Amino acid sequence: MGSVTRAVFGELPSGGGTVEKFRLQSDLLRVDIISWGCTITAIEVKDRQGRASDVVLGFADLEGYLQKQPYFGAVVGRVANRIAKGTFKVDGKEYCLALNKEPNSLHGGVRGFDKVLWTPRVLSNGVQFSRVSPDGEEGYPGELKVWVTYTLDGGELVVNYRAQASQATPVNLTNHSYFNLAGQGSPNIYDHEVTIEADTYLPVDETLIPTGEVAPVQGTAFDLRKPVELGKHLQDFHLNGFDHNFCLKGSKEKHFCARVRHAASGRVLEVYTTQPGVQFYTGNFLDGTLKGKSGAVYPKHSGFCLETQNWPDAVNQPHFPPVLLRPGEEYDHTTWFKFSVA
Ligand code: BGC
Repeated sequence: MGSVTRAVFGELPSGGGTVEKFRLQSDLLRVDIISWGCTITAIEVKDRQGRASDVVLGFADLEGYLQKQPYFGAVVGRVANRIAKGTFKVDGKEYCLALNKEPNSLHGGVRGFDKVLWTPRVLSNGVQFSRVSPDGEEGYPGELKVWVTYTLDGGELVVNYRAQASQATPVNLTNHSYFNLAGQGSPNIYDHEVTIEADTYLPVDETLIPTGEVAPVQGTAFDLRKPVELGKHLQDFHLNGFDHNFCLKGSKEKHFCARVRHAASGRVLEVYTTQPGVQFYTGNFLDGTLKGKSGAVYPKHSGFCLETQNWPDAVNQPHFPPVLLRPGEEYDHTTWFKFSVA
């Protein structure tokens, strides 16, 4: 049987409100989530010997999350990932967003969904967060009602995203947790074995915007259909890391996305999703300057993200999966993070 408990995590400056922490516990997992940005602050998983470690990067207190930091554990939106030059058209009307990652817009803008306080509701096996993103927030069209629900089911953390729009708007929601299955604070992820269920990926330009080509992975560094050991693989292909969208094979139904195994501890993370893509990001921009939980520092490649989502810049690339949500429709996506030992 699982349990859910709630506690105060911290106070936002200038009377901005109280951030609460929700602890979801099953016999296999313990997950902490705060109402600031629907942020996962800890996931405790046992290894083969039954020793529990926290496998996500993060901070000990609210100040850590409020500083400039790369979306540790947060839900990102209204549109996760990059929009080229921060502009797009909906039904002929042009919209301009802040260029918070020059020359593009990244992860919803200057104050995206990761930098707001959500309204929590405790469930029997989880917690649901909701908020209304006002019309024009960060330059996006229309009001958007959003619900993000985290539930625990044994060794599985299930994240459901729902949204309803008052006007046609692009929507792309994901969670930006950085995992290290050796335990957060371990220096790198080179000994992790990675599999991603994708026959194609999106090559990008120097600003990380997809070129538009949907390229076969066959014969390239992006062929992760059979497990590769990450450190050796990066070396073999002289790669600085991954920061790419992999095009998943499945439809809108639940499908397998990725599997990561850490042989030494036996910990395995399997990801399933209803989304058409996953941004595999190997923490290339981490630089060891942030002070994390339990005295951890986070150097380059000390965590990986599997951001299940629509394809980057889909709003400007008509042959990518549709990203517009129209009034009367419902955005409804789910991702399953399944932990086990092998
Ligand atoms: C992006 C990276 C970015 C990181 C943190 C990832 O989703 O793909 O390019 O640096 O988020 O901002």
